[in-house]
This record gives sequence, structure tokens and C-alpha cells, in this order.
Amino acid sequence: MGNTEKDIATLLEKRKSAMLGGGQKRIDDQHNKGKKTARERIDYLLDKGSFHEFGTYATHSLTTFGLDKQRFVGDGVVTGFGKIDGRPVALFSQDFTVMGGSFSEVQSQKISRIADKALEAGIPLIGIGDSGGARIQEGVRSLAAYGEIFVRNVMCSGVIPQIQIILGPCAGGAVYSPALMDFIIMAGTSYMFLTGPQVIKTVTGEEVTTEDLGGAAVHTGTSGVAHLAADTEEDGLDMIKTLLSYLPQNNNEEPAPIQTSDSIERQEKSLDTLIPDDPNSPYDIRDAISAVFDTGSFFEVQPDFAANAVVGFARMDGRAVAIIANQPAFMGGALDINSSDKIARHVRIADAFNIPIVTFVDCPGFLPGTGQEYGGVIRHGAKILYAYCEATVPMVAIVTRKAMGGAYLAMNSRQMRSDLTFSWPSGQIAVMGAEGAVNILYMKDIKEAADPKARKAEIIESYRQEFLNPYRAADVGQIDEIIVPHETRPRLARALEVLRTKITQNPPRKHGLMPV
Ligand code: HXC
Repeated sequence: MGNTEKDIATLLEKRKSAMLGGGQKRIDDQHNKGKKTARERIDYLLDKGSFHEFGTYATHSLTTFGLDKQRFVGDGVVTGFGKIDGRPVALFSQDFTVMGGSFSEVQSQKISRIADKALEAGIPLIGIGDSGGARIQEGVRSLAAYGEIFVRNVMCSGVIPQIQIILGPCAGGAVYSPALMDFIIMAGTSYMFLTGPQVIKTVTGEEVTTEDLGGAAVHTGTSGVAHLAADTEEDGLDMIKTLLSYLPQNNNEEPAPIQTSDSIERQEKSLDTLIPDDPNSPYDIRDAISAVFDTGSFFEVQPDFAANAVVGFARMDGRAVAIIANQPAFMGGALDINSSDKIARHVRIADAFNIPIVTFVDCPGFLPGTGQEYGGVIRHGAKILYAYCEATVPMVAIVTRKAMGGAYLAMNSRQMRSDLTFSWPSGQIAVMGAEGAVNILYMKDIKEAADPKARKAEIIESYRQEFLNPYRAADVGQIDEIIVPHETRPRLARALEVLRTKITQNPPRKHGLMPV
């Protein structure tokens, strides 16, 4: 029997219902809150006309807690495949108009289906979140449903890029799928919380809601849960496109190169005067990064979290590189717990996706004090060592000023498997700064001197001569080449070209035991 007109009319009617999600009134409510609908977001993100929807008609058949009266075609999530800048992606977009986008068994089946296909096809998985968490009326079914997504997020991890944007509430179990993905973007009226909702009284008596606790400023600035924030939904969705442009489709590919008119021979004279005369004065390492890489290509990730480290992506001669840098303009560039987590995570993302890593070093060491020690700076700092040592992508380090003690080692020193290390003449490579070293080594000598002040100044000066320059490190092969700052772009470009075909393998094992 063929398709009758009635069959086709039924299908079109169902399709119409699916397009309306929870109904026109709820769509209006969504718009009144300044939010797009799940489908409008997909339209904005994907190349025009590229969306192929799957699972459009899936609907639950449960009856508990009045669910029989709340059956919506599609069940509150839109899933399928499309293209971003011509490259295929799998994506899901939660629909808040259907029972607050609450997560159900059917949603899980729909998302699992496209995640499985994304993994097999080697294409990125994109999530657009707007959800009140596990659908309470489904009980354990909705909890198990989350479990199905979590295991897929983990199986996809390091194989295909996974990016989640949060564009509304992201409550309860909804937070953990994003947390297992590679990048979280928060935009518009988004907020994330695991436990709530509730009103909390602070010690000063003011009332703080879960929204206050979990907005974009909290998660991109304080908790470090999210990586990027945008004021509008459009800006947030654009960030997905930008991020993807630096990433390959999967871990068997390299990021696609783009055409650039920026010559690799460009020499940037401003770099020669970037480092202040006073070795303790700050400067912004982002000025160096912007000057060295293809013009306008630097894209910072987690700019508001642990600002003492800068991480992100840029391009050299049109090819993506991952950037790791100390930031002397914040906390003198010292490493601490949060910056260690930030750096280690970015190194691992770059390594998983075959993106060469360039590290800029200007770090006086790890931040001292009980706050850091009690907080486990040893365990967190070890993540940086682990991540660099484990990485097999091309790695180049550039010492711009201080590379002291543990920070010298941690920040991709030669032993941490840096392939090539440059230093500017301003490089200072030592176990510790002059003052500290002299106090430890020459205390008695200084005390007993006829003029202790003069003696101390004399020893400090000789320590500076010996260690606070890059030449001793070059003598012993820890620095491969000392370069004039304005030569950095051409030298780095050539180094990356040589290293492009680098092959290194780690010993076979189930997995390493990275300190977490
Ligand atoms: C079922 C839900 C829901 C949920 C919201 N809704 N969350 N339905 N299960 N989890 C429904 C509401 O009942 C409402 O339906 C509609 O969605 C819109 O919700 P509102 O509350 O009117 O919207 P808003 O004021 O914007 O508040 C959004 C919200 C709030 C902050 C997300 O709805 C909320 O607090 N929801 C519960 C959040 C939560 O605690 N989730 C955790 C679940 S447990 P009607 O028909 O009345 O309009 C969990 C554990 C998993 O996830 C752990 C795994 C590790």
C-alpha cells in the first residue's frame, strides 16, 4: 500500500507539532525572556539549509505523575546533523518550552543516537543547553538517561571535539555532560548549578540565589567550570564557530589550514622594547602573542579565570597553534592552583587534537604560602608537568624573562619534552631570584663583612651576572637559541615547519595516572 494523502497529512501535522515544541505561548514566553528557541538557535549556528533533523517524532509513552497529559512531539530536544563553515557536525538543542527542557529517557535516546554517529563519523558534537535537569516525573529513568550521555561524552573525549553552549538554566544532572565536554560557553541568560534551587543567606545577611551563584561571571571567573562567556546568544554561538576553526574534525586529523596574507618573515620591532627595564615591572604577554602570530588570529580561552596564565589558540602561517603563557601583568605571572589546572587542561586538549603548542615563559615560580600548600598546589602543579610530559605534538617554548625554579621546569622545559626552546636576551634562568639565593647562600659571609650592605650588593651582582641571563642555560643546552625579540615570528614559523612531521610515541598502557 502506497502513501495516501492522509498518511502524508498526518506526518505534516506531526511535523508542525514538533516545530512548535511546547506550544506558541511558551515560545512567546521564551522570546519575552530574550531567548531564542531551540530551533532558532540551530538556524543561527549552522550553515544555511544544512540541518538534517533525526528523531523529530520521538515521544515518551509514560503515564506517571501526569506525564500522559504532557506528550510533546520531539520530547524537548532537537537533534541532527548540519554544517558549520562547510564542515559536518552533530548537534542537539534542548527546548525549554517543553517541560523546561527537562532531561528525559527519550531525550537521552535521541542525543545518544547522534553522539554515537558523531563518534563513528569523526565529527564534532555540539550541545545547546537550556534545561531544568532530570525530568522529575520520570524518576530513575531520567537519571539513567543522564548516565547514557555521560558515558558517551567520555567515549568521545579526545576523539572528537565536544562543545557545549549554555543558553538558559543548566540545572542538576544537566551540568555534568557539559563538564565532561571540552569547552563550555555561557551566554545570554545562562546559569549553571548542581544543587538547588534555594536561597542562601550569607554571613552579611544578604540573600543569594542559585542564579547569583551560577551565572557566567561565576563560572568563567571564579569556579573555572566554563571557558567562555558572551553577552548575547548570537555572540556565544559565534564563539562555537571560532573555536571549531582551530580544531580538527577528530583526533586523526589536523586542524584545517587557512590562507593568510601575513608573511612569516614579518619582524615585529615592538617586541624589542616590550620587556621593561625593571625586571619586576609588569607587561602584558598578550601583546607578544598578538605580535608574533598571524594578525588577528589570537583567540583567548578562559580569559577571566586564573589571569596569571594565558591560554588560547592562534595561527602561524595559517595553521592553528595552541598558546600557553605566563602573564606577568597579573600576580607577576606566578603559577598557582587555578593556573595549573587551566594550563594542564589546555595542553591536553591541544595534544589530543594534534595542535602544536607554543609556550611563553615569564614566571618567578609557584606562589608560596599555606593557602596554596593546603589547597594542594603540589598535586595541581604536577598536572602541568604531567600534561607536557605526556604530550607528543610539536612543542616550542620561548623564555621572555623569568624562568625560575619549578616554574622553569614546569613551563615546558627541555626535560618536559619541549622540542625547541628559544630565549630572548632578557631571559633569566635560575633556581631562584638573586635576593633569595644570596640570603640563603651568603648570610654568614654578609654578616661578617666589614660593610655587609656593600658585600651583599656585590654578591647579588655576581649572581645576576652568572644566572640572570640566558647564556648559562644555552651553554648547557637548556636553551637552543637566543634570539632578538623581533625575530620571533620568522624563527618560530620555521621551527613549527620543521616539527610538523614530528613522530613521538608514549609507551603502550591502559592509561596514565594523571594527578587529579
Ligand atoms: C520536570 C521541570 C523541571 C524538571 C523545570 N520543569 N524543571 N519539569 N523536571 N527538572 C518545568 C516546570 O515545572 C515548569 O512547568 C517549566 O518546566 C518551566 O519551569 P519554571 O520553573 O517555570 O521556569 P523558571 O522559573 O525559568 O525556572 C527554571 C528552573 C526551575 C530554575 C530550571 O524550573 C527549577 O529549579 N527546576 C528544577 C531544577 C532542579 O533542581 N533540577 C534537578 C533535578 S535532579 P510548568 O508546566 O509548571 O510551566 C537532577 C539529578 C541528576 O538533575 C544528577 C545526575 C548526576
